[in-house]
Amino acid sequence: MKTSVQIQKPSGPLPEEPAMQARDPFTLVIFGASGDLSKRKLIPALYHLDNAGYLPDRYAVVGFSRTPLSDAQYRDAMLADLKTQKLNEPEKLTAQHKLLQALHYHPGNNDEADSFKRLEARIRELERERKLPGNRLYYLSVAPEFFATIVRRLHEAGMIRGKNDATWSRVIIEKPFGTDLQSARALNIAVTAVLDENQIYRIDHYLGKETVQNILGFRFGNSIFEPLFNQKYVDNVQITVAETLGMEGRRGAYYDGAGAIRDMVQNHMLQLLCLTAMEPPSTLDGTSIRDEKVKVLRALEPMSVDEVAAYTVRGQYTPGQDPATRQAIKGYPEEEGVKPGSVTESYVAMRLQIENWRWAGVPFLLRTGKRLKKRVSEIAVTFKRPPLHLFGKNQQSDYCLISDRPKSNTLVLRIQPDEGISLSFACKQPGLQIQLNEVHMDFFYGQAFQQRSPEAYERLLLDALRGDASLFTRSDEVDSAWKFITSILNGWKELPKPKFPNYAPFGDGPEEAHRLLSGTQAQWRSIGAM
Ligand code: BG6
Repeated sequence: MKTSVQIQKPSGPLPEEPAMQARDPFTLVIFGASGDLSKRKLIPALYHLDNAGYLPDRYAVVGFSRTPLSDAQYRDAMLADLKTQKLNEPEKLTAQHKLLQALHYHPGNNDEADSFKRLEARIRELERERKLPGNRLYYLSVAPEFFATIVRRLHEAGMIRGKNDATWSRVIIEKPFGTDLQSARALNIAVTAVLDENQIYRIDHYLGKETVQNILGFRFGNSIFEPLFNQKYVDNVQITVAETLGMEGRRGAYYDGAGAIRDMVQNHMLQLLCLTAMEPPSTLDGTSIRDEKVKVLRALEPMSVDEVAAYTVRGQYTPGQDPATRQAIKGYPEEEGVKPGSVTESYVAMRLQIENWRWAGVPFLLRTGKRLKKRVSEIAVTFKRPPLHLFGKNQQSDYCLISDRPKSNTLVLRIQPDEGISLSFACKQPGLQIQLNEVHMDFFYGQAFQQRSPEAYERLLLDALRGDASLFTRSDEVDSAWKFITSILNGWKELPKPKFPNYAPFGDGPEEAHRLLSGTQAQWRSIGAM
């Protein structure tokens, strides 16, 4: 039986937001401006930041991509998209909004010197008109093959300021940063040839999520949980990022070259793993936090081919029916953009070991996939069962109805949806006999705090504008993550081709994932019941 115990709201007034405004007037240049990310995330993030007073009085945003559009057409398109979003102050959204007035568009080609010359001339003109000093944030929301090219073109067109200049230039690079260790290193060499490490912002939007930032708050802001976070008390840790979406008709071509391991594990899931497993940093500055995360990544031993066979499971979804809409959906191999006979995984599960003093012997179980039962991301820490079956001692008597040891306590950090934290524990069911039941203490962000949680991209754009790279990934983090992931990619190349497709959509993923648990006490948590 599952029972819930509600947590009280925090007492006293909530603290005011600290003054963490972006103070320098700036020009944000978005490459890939007509794409999805720009309209769904970046422009809405700027809109919220501006409404909340986080942006300076003067700024400009210049969209750049191949589609030929005028300023007016681009503004209209962004206005129309903003209208489809859930806005907390919808009355502020008019064509006269400061953001829309600051929004411009310049068509051009990512790999053409002339396009960059013209772009630079256009930006200079805007900066003169708007009295902007020339601080520039370049956002590379383009296909990964253009990252190095755009950085080189920016440099050639004289668009990058040096570290001794009065104004700054920073570059945000979207994921994936490389496709394996070798290409990530090559990309790093190409971008560091013209940029200092402190001008490079490698984005992983999971790090901007409120609940992901709270992992450190929860672990190191309380003294009762952290002493238990080690091999002495923890039985296993499960990290799940499940999605119901498939390729949505437009992502197949990109995704088929990436697969779940590159799209989700190398970045988002390894970041969740690091935050769950790292040692306390000495301070909360970016260097200390990133130093500790790198140590976790370095403690992941690259896998041999045999280990890859034993400790990873891949999947692809079959055709089926969407239970919500009753519509037929394609299987992964039939999705648009997916190559015939593709062995790209739309699901991956793996069992990892963190080879350090704190975590030796504790299985870390990671799984992620498309077309699973529910959209849910969570970290579940399952503790060891009580050592003694005390409640089973009177089994012969009719006083005690318990035949097994109580279940393990599980602490669940819910990243999304229903953001919050829950802890399960055993409790005596009221009555004259002894019977234990599992109950839950639940904390829900939505109930405890009234204010809106900023979206990940709001937080990360603001940080980049303020020059704070703490929530962006450093080159040694990316390198260590790829070192581990590349060992799995290499193992898969050696192993026989998997029998795909192998899981029905809107379920828990391939049955085969259960074999990863053999020899452990762990059980996969049911995705539908999360
Ligand atoms: C992106 C992946 O980085 O993260 C997508 O490329 C995935 O495939 C998305 O759908 C998930 O993000 P979120 O914030 O919806 O969990």
